[in-house]
Amino acid sequence: MTEQSYQHWRLERDEHDIAWLYADKANAGANTLSKAVLEELYDILSQFNEDRPQGLVILSAKASGFIAGADINEFTTLGGQKDAEDLIGRGQAVLDRLAALDMPTVALIHGFCLGGGMELALACRYRIADDDPKTKLGLPEVNLGIHPGFGGTVRLPPLVGAPAAMDMMLGGRSLSARAAQRMGLVDYAVPARHFKDAARATVLRPPARKQATGWKAWTNHKLVRPLLARYLEKQVAKRARKDHYPAPYALIELWKNHMDDPRRMMREEASSVARLVMGETAQSLVRVFFLQERMKSLGDKKEIEVKHVHVIGGGVMGGDIAAWCAMRGLHVTLQDRSHEALARVVKRAHDLYRKRLKQPRVIQAAMDRLMPDIQGVGVAKADVVIEAIFEDVDAKQALYKEIEPKLKKDAVLATNTSSIPLETLCKALSRPSRLVGLHFFNPVAKMQLVEIVKGTQTAEKAVKQAAAFCRHIERLPLPVKSAPGFLVNRVLMPYLLEAVTLEEEGVPATVIDKAALDFGMPMGPIELADTVGLDICLSVARILSQQLDMPVPGRLEQLVNAGHLGRKSGTGFYRYQNGKKLFSGEHKAYTPPADITDRMMMRFLNETVACLREGIVDEGDLLDGGVIFGTGFAPFRGGPMHYIRKTGRAQLRHRLETLETQHGARFRVDAGWDQADLF
Ligand code: NAI
Repeated sequence: MTEQSYQHWRLERDEHDIAWLYADKANAGANTLSKAVLEELYDILSQFNEDRPQGLVILSAKASGFIAGADINEFTTLGGQKDAEDLIGRGQAVLDRLAALDMPTVALIHGFCLGGGMELALACRYRIADDDPKTKLGLPEVNLGIHPGFGGTVRLPPLVGAPAAMDMMLGGRSLSARAAQRMGLVDYAVPARHFKDAARATVLRPPARKQATGWKAWTNHKLVRPLLARYLEKQVAKRARKDHYPAPYALIELWKNHMDDPRRMMREEASSVARLVMGETAQSLVRVFFLQERMKSLGDKKEIEVKHVHVIGGGVMGGDIAAWCAMRGLHVTLQDRSHEALARVVKRAHDLYRKRLKQPRVIQAAMDRLMPDIQGVGVAKADVVIEAIFEDVDAKQALYKEIEPKLKKDAVLATNTSSIPLETLCKALSRPSRLVGLHFFNPVAKMQLVEIVKGTQTAEKAVKQAAAFCRHIERLPLPVKSAPGFLVNRVLMPYLLEAVTLEEEGVPATVIDKAALDFGMPMGPIELADTVGLDICLSVARILSQQLDMPVPGRLEQLVNAGHLGRKSGTGFYRYQNGKKLFSGEHKAYTPPADITDRMMMRFLNETVACLREGIVDEGDLLDGGVIFGTGFAPFRGGPMHYIRKTGRAQLRHRLETLETQHGARFRVDAGWDQADLF
């Protein structure tokens, strides 16, 4: 056997004269296809012209996985469309060279194989994947506002047929090894112990190459494409507007127009991605990607070793927090006074695991990790204790008095309170510095953000440990000051209340919600209020209105007094049946006041500026990340602060002044707008 090392690759030649090429990007935990990595690959592949091996197997030397994708850092340094097109064209040329090799080529995939990494695998003749839950294959480029650019759009549809290919590229979701095998994306899904044998056998006795056949092949035919394209566009339109998210539409167009001519399609693919990547949406989504990475880095897993979590309060929040932690592999004891509450949690957890984990064995293992614990014996063994009982000072304080003597010396004690100052709660503790807030959002399984609440008494160590804990359960930590509403509820509330005021003035709820959706919010504010529960909204609004200038519309109180609590009670602003919203008219003939979007969004933005000025969050970027992951604020706008900078601070400030003149003091311009250093 011979071995040759490069900066980012390692090449071995075995006794069968098979070349084993290991991706091993220098100074990185994961492989990405940076320019340097691709250039080196090109040189290595070029050598094979003179010294031709029996076959080539490409695999990864990293434990984390195969190749995570293109190097997203390079997206931020592009000089313009031409520059982008050159970079993409170069990547295409490298993979074209791989595809043109006159020998069996195999991608041997473990862990993640995403984006450019998946495209590299597609340029091989065969793909073999490790049949392990950690294996993830996908083309998630749409999440960054682009589509595959290294030949993926050209190679995938003929391989698996258009419906599966488009679903994979438009949805951006990743597949397990087995699902990929069923779909025809990989040739074999095999256990890791057979990995290399399978690759060797494939090179030495190459099977027929996979290709879509029958009706699947027909879906790429030029007569079928326009029809299917129209259907796909309609499906995409349900999820994303073209002016907000152009990439999926560009992808459909590319496939529809050029699938018959691969050479031309390659060129068009490159120019389409170059156009998209320089556009506002992709630039914002790339920013969101980096914000997410930044938030991940706020929690260092090494700060805490967590094996056992004890959750007290098995209601809406505590139950879901417990279920989530067990799903992420921790041992969880869940304490509640009520047997019924615990039984409900177990059922909800099972539903979640069935949906997310799928395999019965894995579901059972997660269920086994979640233990109902009515006596609360788990508290003495837990590394992290999360309190999520009723929002009541006396009840929480009484509980702390009872449990504090039982806690392990270094255990983290966290509360999920939404509104009670930590400074009040900690009075019941003999070691107040250990109390920190872990403010999860409902629904826990969907909302990535967790606010880490720092009371004035909270020890820095507790904050670090709480943030680290979030990383152990794959949530995004955001340290926030212990002030009413923290960040997320504080910025959401004025926006929700303005929507309720509009409804009170006679604007139909659907019209209000549509205005917010058109701005890019994931759900209209009226429907959001109904979903959160109008009683919860009212209680948060009352607490905030005591401290901030935030009048509570009478309409909200009226509905709550009448027992209309939103989705959970069947009636709120809308009506619901079995949790589903009933149709409430389209109001096509109705002309809404011209300023409804501004009224809602300017209150939102004004409050974010206030939060930054008050130091609720340390800096603007983290605030943007928190607001995006905590409220769903239009990701393609890159976050509220980014949006203000892009639109023009002076212009938006002026808009607020006008709204104040027209609608009153709740639009008063926050002093932060005049502090240039905040922007
Ligand atoms: P919930 O009313 O659904 O559940 C509370 C649970 O705690 C009940 O099952 C009750 O039996 C149990 N409980 C009460 N006292 C107890 C005690 N001494 N020992 C053991 N169990 C006890 O309440 P929810 O909505 O889950 O809220 C819990 C906490 O989470 C509150 O502090 C709330 O402010 C906060 N929160 C709520 C959110 C929401 O959307 N509901 C969002 C974020 C935070």
